[in-house]
Amino acid sequence: MVQQKATNVHWHEGDVTREHRNRVLGQKGATIWFTGLSGSGKSTVACALEKELINRGHITYRLDGDNVRLGINKNLGFSAEDRHENIRRIGEISKLFVDTGIISLSSFISPYRADRDTVRELHEAAGMDFIEVWVDCSLEEAENRDPKGLYKKARAGEIKGFTGIDDPYEEPKNPEVHLRSDQMTLEEEIDILLDTLKQRGIFFSVD
Ligand code: ADX
Repeated sequence: MVQQKATNVHWHEGDVTREHRNRVLGQKGATIWFTGLSGSGKSTVACALEKELINRGHITYRLDGDNVRLGINKNLGFSAEDRHENIRRIGEISKLFVDTGIISLSSFISPYRADRDTVRELHEAAGMDFIEVWVDCSLEEAENRDPKGLYKKARAGEIKGFTGIDDPYEEPKNPEVHLRSDQMTLEEEIDILLDTLKQRGIFFSVD
């Protein structure tokens, strides 16, 4: 739990509400949070969903582990402490996108259940949708895919503390969506996600 450091600071409410922004955009902002092992397909699914949503006229923004770690989180590594801070910052950034009315597609290993739950609570306390998507793939399959050659390096001892090898991944207990990326096609996964978003009222048209 991060403590508030600055004192004498107060929230300044504007005149434009989240509902106004949603009406202008014809959609409801939401965080779709993809969690899973490296190589499980989180970024692939997020990219495909982004394309589908944009084609339907919906504005999204993708926040992706590797990309964010090249920018705002470039001062963080992979210790448990840094992973907590990584997820805390992304949770806050994602929440800003939701407030703007954007559908935020966040893909991070986010290996600790408590960190994911904290981001969920942060959203729910603000009346925002948080949809946890477990991109579930066996370690064996992720290791076979090894798109960045990192599992090979981790097995060779060249990377220490690699998730799934010598660092933990805590599986979600009650994710809104559970995708078996080693058993489903990408099309099937996207259909499930689009249905979920429709049911949750993330899409709606401007009257
Ligand atoms: S998280 O654990 O803090 O959520 P994040 O999703 O931002 O991780 O970054 C994971 C990506 O960083 C992986 O897909 C991989 O490309 C790279 N990476 C480099 N070192 C590690 C490591 N020790 N453990 C996991 N991923 C790593």
